Amino acid sequence: MQAQHETHPEIAKLSDIRAMLTDDALLSKLLTSVPKKLPSTLSYTEEGSQYFAELCHQPEYYPAHVERRLLKTHSANIIDYVKPSQIVDLGCGSMEKTQLLIHEAIKKHNHINFVPCDIDPNIIQTGISKLNYFYGNELSIYPVQGLFEECISWSPKIDGSTLFTFMGLTYGNMTHEERDSFLRFLRTSMNGDDYFLLSVDLVKDRATMENAYQDTNGLVAKSMLESLKFLNAFYDADFLLDQFYHLAQYEPDRRCIVEYLVSRCHQSVEIPKLGLSIEIQEQERIEAEFSEKFLFEDLISDLSRWGFCPAQTYTDVDMQYAMILLHRGRQVDANALRSAA
Ligand SMILES: C[S@@+](CC[C@H](N)C(=O)[O-])C[C@H]1O[C@@H](n2cnc3c(N)ncnc32)[C@H](O)[C@@H]1O
Repeated sequence: MQAQHETHPEIAKLSDIRAMLTDDALLSKLLTSVPKKLPSTLSYTEEGSQYFAELCHQPEYYPAHVERRLLKTHSANIIDYVKPSQIVDLGCGSMEKTQLLIHEAIKKHNHINFVPCDIDPNIIQTGISKLNYFYGNELSIYPVQGLFEECISWSPKIDGSTLFTFMGLTYGNMTHEERDSFLRFLRTSMNGDDYFLLSVDLVKDRATMENAYQDTNGLVAKSMLESLKFLNAFYDADFLLDQFYHLAQYEPDRRCIVEYLVSRCHQSVEIPKLGLSIEIQEQERIEAEFSEKFLFEDLISDLSRWGFCPAQTYTDVDMQYAMILLHRGRQVDANALRSAA
């Protein structure tokens, strides 16, 4: 398929990127908690997004390979089943894997609307330039920079069905509260013909999980350091960046890979724009991100509380990873709604 036009669609910018990334009160609370924490969204800078896109091609980072393999095998089936007129890719990143679905949809139906959503406008721009060149008029792109909920509300209302995609383990980076509010919002925004394609990583042997986050090129480590670089640049903080090293470990009680930045020395850090001074001890760990790993049955029962029913499930033979195609069930668990209210 060749380009028919090369004008790039404008990215709709829903809110100021820095305001979206940080909430000063929350930041102060996290930086003074025990252990100290950083909001993971701080690592989604232009460089952070590039590191993640590169990581998806490192041999150790199995989630991207398994997900790509599942999509290569099942995209045609997913498109046949959903018959989408539109794909809304939430946290689209490089869109490289979503392209497998787009390709199949265009092959079958000659045209599709594509709504890539992310908080990082640079990664959206790079991705849509490639897609626009490749598919031209067969693809109508409506790119949007914003938070998940904002993007869902903004996405074009169409007659046919919309396929919402949530890939690349983003779901596992959310807290339980964030997930509940996201699922509730998504479900109430979906029409009866819409579907939600969710990727998750499943619990497996510890070494495989930990190795994936300790890649030989140190891309995960670099992307974690982006958070502290961001605080130095925008909050005039003075974290000694070269005095931190990265540690990823599986914590079975949380069922998470937890990623820490560990200080090699004692540091007294000033963060003037937060009016905050913090002491970091030698070998103290700051929690920079976590990635939850799921038990399949628990996940399905959790999703059903929010009225999502599995229509199709795709897993690899070793049950390392799962992609679940969900539709809106009839009922939402009233207790779940009450406890979230
Ligand atoms: C783990 S990456 C996944 C990227 C891509 N879907 C893939 O599979 O390669 C998560 C992406 O979600 C974006 N993101 C994280 N939190 C977000 C939020 N609250 N709203 C919108 N985008 C968000 C990040 O900028 C990043 O590009």
